[in-house]
Amino acid sequence: MRAEQMQALLAQRQQAGLLRQLKVLDAVKGSSLSFQGKLFLNFSGNDYLGLSADPAVVAALQQGASDFGVGSTGSPLISGQQKPHQALCDEICDWLNVEAVLLFSSGFAANQAMLLGLCGEDELLLLDKLSHASMIDAALQLPGGYKRFLHNDVVSLQKLLQSQHEAPAVIATEGVFSMDGDSPDLPTLLKLSQQYQAPLLLDDAHGIGVQGAEGAGSLVQAGLATQDAQCLMANFGKALGGQGGFLATTQLVADYLAQSARHFIYSTALSPAMAVAMTQSIRLCRINAWRRERLAENIQYCQELARQYDLPLLPSHSAIQPLLIGDSNKAMVVSEQLRAQGIWLSAIRPPTVPQQQARLRITLTALHQKADLALLFQSLRALL
Ligand SMILES: Cc1ncc(COP(=O)(O)O)c(C=O)c1O
Repeated sequence: MRAEQMQALLAQRQQAGLLRQLKVLDAVKGSSLSFQGKLFLNFSGNDYLGLSADPAVVAALQQGASDFGVGSTGSPLISGQQKPHQALCDEICDWLNVEAVLLFSSGFAANQAMLLGLCGEDELLLLDKLSHASMIDAALQLPGGYKRFLHNDVVSLQKLLQSQHEAPAVIATEGVFSMDGDSPDLPTLLKLSQQYQAPLLLDDAHGIGVQGAEGAGSLVQAGLATQDAQCLMANFGKALGGQGGFLATTQLVADYLAQSARHFIYSTALSPAMAVAMTQSIRLCRINAWRRERLAENIQYCQELARQYDLPLLPSHSAIQPLLIGDSNKAMVVSEQLRAQGIWLSAIRPPTVPQQQARLRITLTALHQKADLALLFQSLRALL
């Protein structure tokens, strides 16, 4: 692309209030962050359980780096899968009750590997309309193509499955949607998946660690089992407080993907230090039910305050509690005004969300105090 074209695009975005800017923060820790020497309450992170700076997780990372090095130094099939990686896979298998796990350097890569690997050439992917960019990008490359069903709408999905007649299909959706915080009716979705023999692929980036007993995810929360999906994608970058992603599945699917998934074969394996840290983080996640309880209390209190101040949140039971603003410029202005008051709450604008659906996406953690939430809602009420 030529320089003039890039400049025109940037100017266009600026004018529409859609220019994204990279802000370099001093540090993000717990429920706060600092920027240019000033402390802010953070309502824009994904550290739902407060594990990213937990002393035991930090110590595990340090010990892992001392024992195994910072980098894996190779792709998994060459030299990158080491004892810490295997220990992490074993921990996840035990946690989610699955046969096999493949690790990836990001959830984005894991999603791409899942969709590109598990949608056959003659299969049509049926994807929720609000699916994450990592799934949409994979869908665009599928030889069998894809169609999108209306968001969390099982009737719309069933119509597509019926219209496919005998042709094979694959269903993909998310356990908790990243921009809306809502969830599909997984039991009904699974029934459709079985009825039409269309395997279910689930992105549970925002459900893992938070939903279900021991934080085993959205399927467990819905009374189902992880094995009910043909493959589950989740990442370490949100509730588990680290970085990277994984696919949890059967031995057969994992063996097949290890032969074919380009994001697995041709990419440097996860850092062994991170693998040690994530094993520790998962252990804490499993036994520290209090983190999920605290988060649930915060979610409930957030909804109470929203009702009290007449600030309608989108319907969500998760740690993601979006406040719809509509206009992108207005969302940006409110976000900046909140910042002036020491509150960090980013505006989410198109194309990340549909046109005229700009929002303030409040994300909560187990580490927020009630007073933090009260302050947020007093400020929002004064500004809106
Ligand atoms: C729903 C969803 N899927 C996948 C990803 C990608 O995961 P990662 O950030 O680990 O690449 C994200 C995170 O941004 C997400 O929100």
